[in-house]
Amino acid sequence: MSLTNFPGSGASPSSPQLPKVTMPALAEMKRQGKPISALTAYDYATSRLVDEAGIDLILVGDSLAMVVLGHDNTLAVTVDEMLHHTRAVRRAVRRALVVADMPFGSYHGTVAEGVANAVRFIKEAGAEAVKVEGPRIDLVRALSEAEIPVVAHLGLTPQSVLRMGGYRVQARSLEAARQLRADAHALAESGAGLLVLEGVPREVAAQITAELTIPTIGIGAGPDCDGQILVFHDLLNLTFAPAAKFVRRYADASGLIRTAVEQYREDVEHRAFPSDAESYHLPGRKAAPSYSEEVDAVVNRDALQDLGEFGA
Ligand code: KIV
Repeated sequence: MSLTNFPGSGASPSSPQLPKVTMPALAEMKRQGKPISALTAYDYATSRLVDEAGIDLILVGDSLAMVVLGHDNTLAVTVDEMLHHTRAVRRAVRRALVVADMPFGSYHGTVAEGVANAVRFIKEAGAEAVKVEGPRIDLVRALSEAEIPVVAHLGLTPQSVLRMGGYRVQARSLEAARQLRADAHALAESGAGLLVLEGVPREVAAQITAELTIPTIGIGAGPDCDGQILVFHDLLNLTFAPAAKFVRRYADASGLIRTAVEQYREDVEHRAFPSDAESYHLPGRKAAPSYSEEVDAVVNRDALQDLGEFGA
């Protein structure tokens, strides 16, 4: 196989010839001081739009448990469900780096089990990196040794919701900030290629970002990280809940969808959809110019008899 012509390196319809984003490319962006854009996505259509919009990294986040599957937290989603969504995303994406979130329970046992599950995301779903929450130094080292790029995740780690007793900003005390900083260094030294910092004070994220050579991606961690990530559904107001402080709503997809669906329902109820122009016709039968003629055509017994198979 050619080194420069591999599946996934092809051009997307609207962004021809864009080079594939890789972990080393993201590290280079940090070196050059270029901000990294990242977003979650969970299915083909939205991933394709996100990719074609030029987002650098797409995370198939376990947040899908909440925003796609309707669970109260991220704990219930399974490896098989995450694989299913990661495959759909991978089919859509041409340019962005596709990262799969390892779900709760898939790396909390032995390191060997964690590596085996991570391998599934690479082999069976086409992920290009996996993300794990917490300072799992041994696991990150083992994944790196197994040639699996790792995105680490510190701060407010949603899979720790039961231990944390809710979703709270982390590393607010000096002691906790020091621990976070030490964990971040240890993860980078163990081979993590990126570090997501979630729900931590801006000052703490800024210091870690300045000290690490690997890029930091912030979510609720202020503007000084090397990149930013948001949950797709937060960005578009699709979460049915008030937004957290760090979320900026860039559009109101809820409103758009509600209006469109209500309009469709009304059109169906008033027989305004489909129109004749939106209907197929028998050969030789032209589209009716008016609604009443359409109705006539539909009930016209002669026309039905012409069809033979429907004839009375
Ligand atoms: O699952 C998720 O969406 C995440 C975030 C970093 C956004 O882990």
